[in-house]
Amino acid sequence: MRVILLGPPGSGKGTQGEMIAKKFHLPRISTGDILREAIKKETPLGLAAKAEMSAGHLVNDEIVASLVAERIKKADCKQGYILDGFPRNINQVRLLEKMDNSQEEIVFEISVPEEVILDRLTSRRICSSCGAVYNIITSPPQRPGICDLCGGSLIQRDDDRAEVVRERLRVYEAEIKEIIDHYKEKGVFYRINGQGTFEEVFQRIESLLVLKFKTKINQPKE
Ligand code: AP5
Ligand code: MG
Repeated sequence: MRVILLGPPGSGKGTQGEMIAKKFHLPRISTGDILREAIKKETPLGLAAKAEMSAGHLVNDEIVASLVAERIKKADCKQGYILDGFPRNINQVRLLEKMDNSQEEIVFEISVPEEVILDRLTSRRICSSCGAVYNIITSPPQRPGICDLCGGSLIQRDDDRAEVVRERLRVYEAEIKEIIDHYKEKGVFYRINGQGTFEEVFQRIESLLVLKFKTKINQPKE
Protein backbone atom coordinates (compact mmCIF):
# COMPACT_ATOMS: atom_id res chain seq x y z
CA MET A 1 0.00 0.00 0.00
CA ARG A 2 1.41 3.33 -1.07
CA VAL A 3 -0.12 6.54 0.22
CA ILE A 4 0.90 9.57 -1.82
CA LEU A 5 0.36 13.00 -0.33
CA LEU A 6 0.14 15.83 -2.81
CA GLY A 7 -0.67 19.41 -1.92
CA PRO A 8 0.80 22.89 -2.11
CA PRO A 9 3.44 24.01 0.37
CA GLY A 10 1.90 24.38 3.80
CA SER A 11 -1.18 22.31 2.99
CA GLY A 12 -0.41 19.86 5.79
CA LYS A 13 1.33 16.95 4.04
CA GLY A 14 3.87 16.57 6.83
CA THR A 15 1.30 16.98 9.58
CA GLN A 16 -1.16 14.50 8.08
CA GLY A 17 1.64 12.18 6.96
CA GLU A 18 2.78 11.85 10.57
CA MET A 19 -0.76 11.12 11.74
CA ILE A 20 -1.25 8.45 9.06
CA ALA A 21 2.14 6.94 9.90
CA LYS A 22 1.28 6.65 13.61
CA LYS A 23 -2.17 5.25 13.12
CA PHE A 24 -1.40 2.78 10.34
CA HIS A 25 2.21 1.91 11.23
CA LEU A 26 3.63 2.94 7.91
CA PRO A 27 6.88 4.87 7.44
CA ARG A 28 6.53 8.43 6.16
CA ILE A 29 9.11 9.36 3.56
CA SER A 30 9.48 13.10 3.09
CA THR A 31 11.91 14.08 0.35
CA GLY A 32 11.96 17.62 1.76
CA ASP A 33 13.04 16.31 5.19
CA ILE A 34 15.74 14.09 3.65
CA LEU A 35 17.10 17.02 1.63
CA ARG A 36 17.04 19.40 4.63
CA GLU A 37 18.94 16.82 6.70
CA ALA A 38 21.55 16.53 3.92
CA ILE A 39 21.93 20.31 3.82
CA LYS A 40 22.35 20.43 7.59
CA LYS A 41 25.06 17.77 7.43
CA GLU A 42 26.67 19.45 4.41
CA THR A 43 26.83 16.18 2.47
CA PRO A 44 27.48 16.32 -1.31
CA LEU A 45 23.73 15.82 -1.82
CA GLY A 46 23.00 18.71 0.53
CA LEU A 47 25.46 20.97 -1.26
CA ALA A 48 23.90 20.08 -4.61
CA ALA A 49 20.34 20.70 -3.38
CA LYS A 50 20.81 23.82 -1.30
CA ALA A 51 20.57 26.52 -3.98
CA GLU A 52 17.47 24.99 -5.60
CA MET A 53 15.70 24.56 -2.29
CA SER A 54 16.36 28.05 -1.03
CA ALA A 55 15.08 29.44 -4.32
CA GLY A 56 11.90 27.32 -4.12
CA HIS A 57 12.80 25.28 -7.19
CA LEU A 58 12.71 21.53 -7.62
CA VAL A 59 15.87 19.54 -7.03
CA ASN A 60 16.95 17.29 -9.91
CA ASP A 61 14.46 14.45 -10.51
CA GLU A 62 17.04 11.66 -10.71
CA ILE A 63 18.70 12.74 -7.45
CA VAL A 64 15.40 12.82 -5.57
CA ALA A 65 14.15 9.58 -7.12
CA SER A 66 17.34 7.78 -6.12
CA LEU A 67 16.82 8.91 -2.50
CA VAL A 68 13.33 7.45 -2.55
CA ALA A 69 14.50 4.25 -4.26
CA GLU A 70 17.13 3.73 -1.52
CA ARG A 71 14.63 4.39 1.25
CA ILE A 72 11.87 2.10 0.01
CA LYS A 73 14.28 -0.84 -0.20
CA LYS A 74 14.39 -0.92 3.59
CA ALA A 75 12.49 -3.63 5.43
CA ASP A 76 10.02 -1.24 7.08
CA CYS A 77 8.60 -0.33 3.64
CA LYS A 78 7.67 -3.88 2.72
CA GLN A 79 4.03 -3.52 3.78
CA GLY A 80 3.81 -0.05 2.33
CA TYR A 81 4.83 3.55 2.88
CA ILE A 82 3.67 7.14 2.76
CA LEU A 83 5.24 9.54 0.29
CA ASP A 84 5.20 13.19 1.37
CA GLY A 85 6.41 15.58 -1.34
CA PHE A 86 7.21 12.97 -3.98
CA PRO A 87 6.38 12.70 -6.87
CA ARG A 88 6.36 16.37 -7.80
CA ASN A 89 6.17 16.24 -11.57
CA ILE A 90 5.12 13.69 -14.16
CA ASN A 91 8.69 12.54 -14.71
CA GLN A 92 8.94 11.66 -11.01
CA VAL A 93 5.62 9.79 -11.29
CA ARG A 94 7.15 7.65 -14.01
CA LEU A 95 10.38 7.13 -12.06
CA LEU A 96 8.34 6.03 -9.05
CA GLU A 97 6.31 3.55 -11.06
CA LYS A 98 9.51 2.12 -12.50
CA MET A 99 11.18 1.72 -9.11
CA ASP A 100 8.21 0.02 -7.39
CA ASN A 101 5.16 -1.20 -9.19
CA SER A 102 4.08 -3.67 -6.55
CA GLN A 103 2.10 -1.36 -4.26
CA GLU A 104 -1.59 -0.61 -4.43
CA GLU A 105 -1.88 3.17 -4.40
CA ILE A 106 -4.05 5.90 -2.98
CA VAL A 107 -3.33 9.54 -3.73
CA PHE A 108 -4.59 12.52 -1.74
CA GLU A 109 -4.29 16.12 -2.73
CA ILE A 110 -4.69 18.23 0.38
CA SER A 111 -6.35 21.38 -0.83
CA VAL A 112 -5.93 24.70 0.97
CA PRO A 113 -6.45 28.24 -0.40
CA GLU A 114 -3.39 30.38 -1.03
CA GLU A 115 -4.11 33.01 1.63
CA VAL A 116 -4.31 30.30 4.31
CA ILE A 117 -1.01 28.83 3.08
CA LEU A 118 0.80 32.14 3.45
CA ASP A 119 -0.48 32.50 7.02
CA ARG A 120 0.46 28.93 7.92
CA LEU A 121 3.97 29.17 6.52
CA THR A 122 4.91 32.48 8.06
CA SER A 123 3.90 31.10 11.46
CA ARG A 124 5.49 27.65 11.03
CA ARG A 125 8.58 26.80 13.06
CA ILE A 126 10.64 23.62 12.87
CA CYS A 127 13.03 22.07 15.34
CA SER A 128 16.62 22.63 14.22
CA SER A 129 17.54 19.34 15.83
CA CYS A 130 14.80 16.76 15.17
CA GLY A 131 12.73 18.52 12.47
CA ALA A 132 9.42 18.43 14.42
CA VAL A 133 6.93 20.94 13.04
CA TYR A 134 5.09 23.60 15.08
CA ASN A 135 2.95 26.57 14.36
CA ILE A 136 3.17 29.52 16.70
CA ILE A 137 -0.56 30.16 16.22
CA THR A 138 -2.24 26.77 15.76
CA SER A 139 0.15 24.32 17.43
CA PRO A 140 2.70 26.17 19.54
CA PRO A 141 5.34 24.41 21.64
CA GLN A 142 4.89 24.33 25.41
CA ARG A 143 7.88 26.65 25.91
CA PRO A 144 8.33 29.34 23.24
CA GLY A 145 11.18 28.57 20.84
CA ILE A 146 11.91 25.13 22.35
CA CYS A 147 11.00 21.74 20.87
CA ASP A 148 8.65 19.71 23.11
CA LEU A 149 10.16 16.46 21.87
CA CYS A 150 13.92 17.00 22.11
CA GLY A 151 14.54 20.45 23.63
CA GLY A 152 16.13 21.70 20.38
CA SER A 153 15.68 25.29 19.29
CA LEU A 154 12.91 26.19 16.87
CA ILE A 155 13.76 28.03 13.68
CA GLN A 156 11.99 29.27 10.58
CA ARG A 157 12.62 27.29 7.40
CA ASP A 158 14.85 29.11 4.95
CA ASP A 159 12.26 28.67 2.18
CA ASP A 160 9.34 29.99 4.25
CA ARG A 161 10.15 33.59 3.32
CA ALA A 162 7.17 35.12 1.47
CA GLU A 163 8.95 35.50 -1.90
CA VAL A 164 10.18 31.89 -1.84
CA VAL A 165 6.73 30.62 -0.80
CA ARG A 166 5.28 32.38 -3.85
CA GLU A 167 7.82 30.62 -6.09
CA ARG A 168 7.09 27.23 -4.47
CA LEU A 169 3.37 27.80 -5.13
CA ARG A 170 4.10 28.71 -8.75
CA VAL A 171 6.14 25.52 -9.22
CA TYR A 172 3.37 23.46 -7.62
CA GLU A 173 0.69 24.91 -9.90
CA ALA A 174 2.87 24.38 -12.98
CA GLU A 175 3.41 20.68 -12.31
CA ILE A 176 0.38 19.38 -10.47
CA LYS A 177 -2.24 19.15 -13.20
CA GLU A 178 -0.43 16.45 -15.14
CA ILE A 179 0.13 14.44 -11.98
CA ILE A 180 -3.52 14.66 -10.95
CA ASP A 181 -4.72 13.72 -14.44
CA HIS A 182 -2.47 10.66 -14.31
CA TYR A 183 -3.79 9.47 -10.95
CA LYS A 184 -7.39 10.25 -11.89
CA GLU A 185 -6.97 8.02 -14.90
CA LYS A 186 -5.72 5.27 -12.62
CA GLY A 187 -8.79 5.81 -10.41
CA VAL A 188 -6.76 6.37 -7.23
CA PHE A 189 -7.08 10.13 -6.76
CA TYR A 190 -8.94 11.92 -3.93
CA ARG A 191 -9.01 15.64 -3.17
CA ILE A 192 -9.24 16.41 0.53
CA ASN A 193 -10.33 19.66 2.12
CA GLY A 194 -7.24 20.63 4.14
CA GLN A 195 -8.98 23.21 6.30
CA GLY A 196 -10.26 22.51 9.78
CA THR A 197 -8.43 21.09 12.78
CA PHE A 198 -5.61 18.55 12.30
CA GLU A 199 -8.01 15.88 13.51
CA GLU A 200 -10.83 16.90 11.17
CA VAL A 201 -8.55 16.74 8.16
CA PHE A 202 -7.15 13.41 9.34
CA GLN A 203 -10.62 11.92 9.68
CA ARG A 204 -11.32 12.71 6.03
CA ILE A 205 -8.17 10.88 5.00
CA GLU A 206 -8.58 8.04 7.45
CA SER A 207 -12.12 7.20 6.35
CA LEU A 208 -10.98 6.83 2.73
CA LEU A 209 -7.97 4.75 3.75
CA VAL A 210 -10.10 2.41 5.81
CA LEU A 211 -12.66 2.12 3.03
CA LYS A 212 -10.09 1.28 0.39
CA PHE A 213 -7.72 -0.90 2.37
CA LYS A 214 -9.96 -2.40 5.06
CA THR A 215 -8.74 -5.92 4.52
CA LYS A 216 -5.10 -5.00 4.09
CA ILE A 217 -4.14 -2.31 6.54
CA ASN A 218 -2.35 -2.95 9.78
CA GLN A 219 -4.93 -2.69 12.50
CA PRO A 220 -5.09 1.00 13.46
CA LYS A 221 -3.95 1.70 17.02
CA GLU A 222 -6.44 3.50 19.24
P1 AP5 B 1 8.91 20.10 1.17
O1 AP5 B 1 9.64 20.04 2.43
O2 AP5 B 1 8.19 18.91 0.68
O3 AP5 B 1 7.96 21.37 1.23
P2 AP5 B 1 6.53 21.67 0.61
O4 AP5 B 1 5.95 20.72 -0.34
O5 AP5 B 1 6.68 23.05 0.09
O6 AP5 B 1 5.56 21.53 1.79
P3 AP5 B 1 5.79 22.01 3.28
O7 AP5 B 1 6.67 21.08 4.00
O8 AP5 B 1 6.13 23.47 3.28
O9 AP5 B 1 4.30 21.95 3.82
P4 AP5 B 1 3.44 20.70 4.32
O10 AP5 B 1 2.38 20.45 3.29
O11 AP5 B 1 4.29 19.56 4.73
O12 AP5 B 1 2.72 21.37 5.56
P5 AP5 B 1 2.96 21.16 7.15
O13 AP5 B 1 2.32 19.91 7.59
O14 AP5 B 1 4.37 21.40 7.51
O15 AP5 B 1 9.92 20.54 0.01
C1 AP5 B 1 10.78 21.65 0.20
C2 AP5 B 1 11.70 21.78 -1.00
O16 AP5 B 1 12.51 20.59 -1.14
C3 AP5 B 1 11.03 21.95 -2.36
O17 AP5 B 1 10.69 23.29 -2.61
C4 AP5 B 1 12.14 21.45 -3.29
O18 AP5 B 1 13.15 22.41 -3.44
C5 AP5 B 1 12.72 20.27 -2.52
N1 AP5 B 1 12.02 19.02 -2.79
C6 AP5 B 1 11.30 18.26 -1.91
N2 AP5 B 1 10.79 17.20 -2.51
C7 AP5 B 1 11.20 17.25 -3.81
C8 AP5 B 1 10.96 16.45 -4.96
N3 AP5 B 1 10.20 15.36 -4.90
N4 AP5 B 1 11.53 16.82 -6.13
C9 AP5 B 1 12.30 17.92 -6.23
N5 AP5 B 1 12.54 18.75 -5.19
C10 AP5 B 1 12.00 18.41 -3.99
O19 AP5 B 1 2.05 22.37 7.67
C11 AP5 B 1 2.44 23.72 7.45
C12 AP5 B 1 2.12 24.56 8.71
O20 AP5 B 1 0.71 24.62 8.86
C13 AP5 B 1 2.67 23.97 10.02
O21 AP5 B 1 3.05 25.01 10.86
C14 AP5 B 1 1.48 23.19 10.60
O22 AP5 B 1 1.54 23.13 12.00
C15 AP5 B 1 0.31 24.03 10.11
N6 AP5 B 1 -0.90 23.24 9.85
C16 AP5 B 1 -0.96 22.01 9.27
N7 AP5 B 1 -2.24 21.58 9.20
C17 AP5 B 1 -3.00 22.57 9.71
C18 AP5 B 1 -4.42 22.72 9.93
N8 AP5 B 1 -5.30 21.76 9.57
N9 AP5 B 1 -4.84 23.88 10.49
C19 AP5 B 1 -3.97 24.86 10.86
N10 AP5 B 1 -2.62 24.76 10.70
C20 AP5 B 1 -2.15 23.64 10.13
MG1 MG C 1 6.38 19.20 4.74
